[in-house]
Amino acid sequence: MELLTTTASLAGIDCDLLAIGVRQGQLDAALAVLGADLASDFAAAARLDELEGKVATIAAWPSLGRLAATRLAVVGLGEGSDDEIRRAAGAVASLARSKGAARVVLAFGELDASRSQAAVEGVEAGRYRYDGYKAADARKADIASLAFAGPVQAQAFTRARAIAEGQRLARDLVNGPPADIYPETLADAAAELAAMGLTVEVWDQDRIRAEGMGGITAVGQGSPRGARFVHMRWTPSGAPRRRLALVGKGVTFDSGGLSLKPSAGMQTMRCDMAGSAAVIGAMRAIAELQPDVEVHGIFGAVENMNDGNAYKLGDILRMYNGKTVEIHNTDAEGRLVLADCLTYADRLGVEAIVDLATLTGAAVVALGSDYTALFSPDDALANNLLASAQDAGEGLWRMPLNEGYKDLLKAEWGTMKNVGGPEAGSITAALFLKEFVEATPWAHLDIAGPAFRDKAWRHFAPGGTGAMVSTLVRWILS
Ligand code: BES
Ligand code: MN
Ligand code: ZN
Repeated sequence: MELLTTTASLAGIDCDLLAIGVRQGQLDAALAVLGADLASDFAAAARLDELEGKVATIAAWPSLGRLAATRLAVVGLGEGSDDEIRRAAGAVASLARSKGAARVVLAFGELDASRSQAAVEGVEAGRYRYDGYKAADARKADIASLAFAGPVQAQAFTRARAIAEGQRLARDLVNGPPADIYPETLADAAAELAAMGLTVEVWDQDRIRAEGMGGITAVGQGSPRGARFVHMRWTPSGAPRRRLALVGKGVTFDSGGLSLKPSAGMQTMRCDMAGSAAVIGAMRAIAELQPDVEVHGIFGAVENMNDGNAYKLGDILRMYNGKTVEIHNTDAEGRLVLADCLTYADRLGVEAIVDLATLTGAAVVALGSDYTALFSPDDALANNLLASAQDAGEGLWRMPLNEGYKDLLKAEWGTMKNVGGPEAGSITAALFLKEFVEATPWAHLDIAGPAFRDKAWRHFAPGGTGAMVSTLVRWILS
C-alpha cells in the first residue's frame, strides 16, 4: 500500500473512497470542507444514518458525480484521541476492503505524530484479510494507495508500517491452516527473517532432546512432525541500551493430546501458536526499525498430537532446568513448552523476559476476548507493559500472581503437577511458569482471548489479530 499526502480540494480528488472524519457533534463543521451545497446534502444523509461522530461509526454513499471520488464516507472520530483515530481509520479500511475500493483518501484534519502513526496502523489492520484460499472472483481488491488530505507527520509512518508488517505476518501465521503451519514451517518463517539482519538458530527434535528440553520433547513426541526450538536475535551495531527477550508458545495445533479436546474446542486450535507468531511478528518489526536494543525472540514449536508415542498421564518429565513435572492433563501442554524456553531465556542474562501464550481457557473466562491477562511479580515491568498497551490501543489487564495458590500445583512424585485444578486456572498456569525463571524480571501475557476472533471485531476481520505485536514493539522501543 502506497502512502501519499494531498493538498487538492476534496471535491476534486479522484479516488474510490473519500472518508471524512467527524468529531463528536461536529458533523457540519467537518463537512464544510466540501463546500456549502455538498456539505448540507451529505450532512442530511449522515443524520439519516444517525452519524454524529461516535467513534468508528461509518456510512458511505455513492457520490453520483457530485465529487470526483466514487464514494464518500463519513466516519466518527469521537474525541479524536490516538486510539479513536486508529479505530476510525480501521473502519474506513475495512469498509474500503468490503467494497474493493483501491484508492482511499482520509480527510481527518490535522494529525500529530502519534495520530499519524495510529491512522496508518488502523488502516493496515483494517484492510487485512486472509483470503488466499478463496477463489479469485470471491476476493475484493486491497487498498493500493492511501492518501491523507490534511497535515500529517509522515515520519511516523515508518514505525506504523513496521508494526503493521509484523502484525500482518503474525496474523498470516495464525490463520494458516495446520497443514501449512507446523513446527518446521513455523521455524522456517522465523529463519526467513535472517534476510532482514536477524541471527536465527533452529534446533530440531533430536537436538532439543539432547539438550535436555524435556517439556518440548514430551509434547512434541506424539506427532510425526518433529518439534523445533527457535532463537532469533537482533544485535544493534553499537552498545545496546537494553537487552530483552520475548518468548512464545508455538503449539501449531492443540488436539489436547490424550486428554483430547471435544471437536468444538479443537476447531480453532491452529491459533495455539499465536504467542510465537507475535514474537516472530515483533522481531520482524525490530529488524525493520533497528533499535539500539538487543532483542531475543525465542519459541518452542510442537504439534500436540496423539500417535502411539504421545506423552501420557502419569508421565514425569525432566525439564530443561532439572525440575520434574507430573503430567495430570496432556492438554496443559503450553506451559511445558514455554517452561523450557523460559529457562533458556533466563540463562541469556537479559534485563527482562516477556512471554506470550494462548495458555488458558480460564483467562478467556475471566477477561473475555478484549483483554490479554498480564502476570508479573515485577511492578515496574508490569507498568511499562500496561503503558505500552495503552499507547497501542490493545487491552491488557494485570492479574494477581498469588503465591498462595502455589500449593495447588503440589505433586506426589515430581517437583510439581502440570495442572492446578479447576480454580484460578490462568493464575496457577502463570505460577507454574514462574518456577522456570530464576534470575530475570519476567512478565507473562496470556493471549488466549484476544489472539483469535471467531467473528469480526472492530476493524479486525475474523481470525488471527496479531495481538500484542504493537504493544511489544512499543515496549521494546520505549
Ligand atoms: N491452548 C489451550 C488454551 C486455549 C483455550 C487457547 C481457548 C485459546 C482458546 C491450552 O493448551 C489448554 O488446553 N489449556 C487448558 C488447561 C487445563 C487443561 C488446565 C484449558 O484452558 O482448558
Ligand atoms: Mn491444551
Ligand atoms: Zn494449548
